[in-house]
Amino acid sequence: MRVLGIESSCDETAAAVVENGDRLLSTMLASSAAIHAQYGGVVPEVAAREHTMAILPVVKGVLAQAHLAMQDIDAVAVTEGPGLLGALLVGVTFGKALALGLNIPIVGVHHLEAHLYANALVEPLRFPALGLLVSGGHTTLVLWEDHGQLKVLGETRDDAAGEAFDKGARALGLCYPGGPEIERLASSVPQTALSLPVAHLGSQTLDFSFSGVKTATVELARREPHRKAEIAKALQIAVVTALARNVGRALDQYPAHDLYLAGGVTANQCLRERMQQIALEKGVAVHFPPRQYCTDNAAMVASLGYYKLIKGVRLPYNASPRVNYPLGT
Ligand code: KG4
Ligand code: ZN
Repeated sequence: MRVLGIESSCDETAAAVVENGDRLLSTMLASSAAIHAQYGGVVPEVAAREHTMAILPVVKGVLAQAHLAMQDIDAVAVTEGPGLLGALLVGVTFGKALALGLNIPIVGVHHLEAHLYANALVEPLRFPALGLLVSGGHTTLVLWEDHGQLKVLGETRDDAAGEAFDKGARALGLCYPGGPEIERLASSVPQTALSLPVAHLGSQTLDFSFSGVKTATVELARREPHRKAEIAKALQIAVVTALARNVGRALDQYPAHDLYLAGGVTANQCLRERMQQIALEKGVAVHFPPRQYCTDNAAMVASLGYYKLIKGVRLPYNASPRVNYPLGT
């Protein structure tokens, strides 16, 4: 089954064609990140307008790249939420119109669950597993028992890990998105004498909190304007330490043999190395998506869409985007 995936939840208009959930035939993306960069963050109305202009060329482009015609697509999968309403509307409406016109099924997928499926493009998924989703808007730890069976074990109570990087970067005068900039700057120094706080919410919870480290970074950047690289390194260490601590605790508590990472922050090398170390200590296998599929893309949407489609899940034609879409529902 050839599934056309469509992603438009934030600032990336993406399309991809994936066969049977794991064989990527083509993928394409148009990003409006450069436009948002001048405002220091995503402007929802601008993102929605850019999606409307990009979606048709991106979908046509991805089909051309795979040497396919519209009629060669068996089904459509679209990000249903969570995300920005105006942005999601473009993808969902376009997907529904296309499916209706071609008389093929359409399925809606959860954006964060889809991030985990970037791993399915590399090798078959193995369950039960632990999943760590770290993006610009979410930091969520899940017990992933099977396709469609996710239980949230912990999530951020305030800012997401990616947000801490983005806001920290802004305080250091770096561009948006801040994560890659923080990583680049952090690797320009071998070590840092500075330290930033790692929130500890107690032994009863696997939740995270990143607002403290974000505020402390802004404060430190003001006090030590000439130690930017050291601050970036301290921020990276604090965020990675917080993520690693809860992953280690979850692996002690739950029967998972595999650890899957997903989301934009997973591109970070320091995070990858730390997770490899924990996986080794706990005797589990750790999996990362290829870097280009860590951030938003439509291949992950098409992959998850396939697994939902074969179970008979469909998106009703009168469905609206789900701006707030709890994971595991
Ligand atoms: O998953 P994603 O592309 O979009 C969301 O759904 O949010 O994640 C974007 C986030 C941004 O906060 C960005 O700064 C962060 O991922 N990010 C990174 C790196 N690359 C992207 N954070 C740390 N290190 C990186 N190399
Ligand atoms: Zn994302």
